[in-house]
Amino acid sequence: MIDTGALRTQPELSGETVVLAQLDDSYFEGAWRALRDPEVIRFTGTHAKFTEERIHEFLASRPGLADRADYAVLRKEDRVYLGDVVLSDIDEDNRSGAFRIALTGPDVFGKGYGTEATKLLLDYAFDVVGLNRVSLEVFDFNPRARRVYEKAGFVREGLQREALWWEGEWHDVVTMAVLKSDPRP
Ligand SMILES: CC(C)(COP(=O)(O)OP(=O)(O)OC[C@H]1O[C@@H](n2cnc3c(N)ncnc32)[C@H](O)[C@@H]1OP(=O)(O)O)[C@@H](O)C(=O)NCCC(=O)NCCS
Repeated sequence: MIDTGALRTQPELSGETVVLAQLDDSYFEGAWRALRDPEVIRFTGTHAKFTEERIHEFLASRPGLADRADYAVLRKEDRVYLGDVVLSDIDEDNRSGAFRIALTGPDVFGKGYGTEATKLLLDYAFDVVGLNRVSLEVFDFNPRARRVYEKAGFVREGLQREALWWEGEWHDVVTMAVLKSDPRP
């Protein structure tokens, strides 16, 4: 059994430099900024064009969901919004879920925030929600993200050849996963 109540209530998760807090519409400004950042758009392979109204709606609808956990990544010292990290596609029967993360832009990349947020979310997924497996997809041109995932315990499982069409070229998508029983460094 997984604890869907823990998904619904999403406790705040506190690390050394970041805090994960329930994502909601109060973080619109930062979320909107991330959605317009060229690097974030590229590394997340976002083809969709969003409207402000749609993003307000999306953020406002995050609290209280029992089938996923959308967290805002906040800098611990001042609670500045750094990005979001999400556990989704929860499969209760197989106790599995999917992971994604995106910080807001280059000014906050490479400072250790992504690694810490990833580890905090995995601890929550396995130790609080009770999942057994968390998987993700990452593009072949994103070695920074792959490094972060390996540091958090994700293991490469496969390759989806030419699964992304981006700026006139095909790219492979790497699939990675971590199990509850895997080492979590
Ligand atoms: C991916 C992301 C979450 C990583 O978070 P971050 O805070 O920038 O990363 P960290 O600072 O925690 O760690 C980066 C690690 O990658 C390494 N790294 C950076 N660039 C690298 C490169 N080109 N090749 C290999 N490793 C690289 C760093 O050295 C560091 O590893 P180390 O601690 O062993 O030295 C963040 O950069 C981001 O949101 N990027 C844009 C969106 C994105 O890529 N999302 C993931 C989609 S799958």
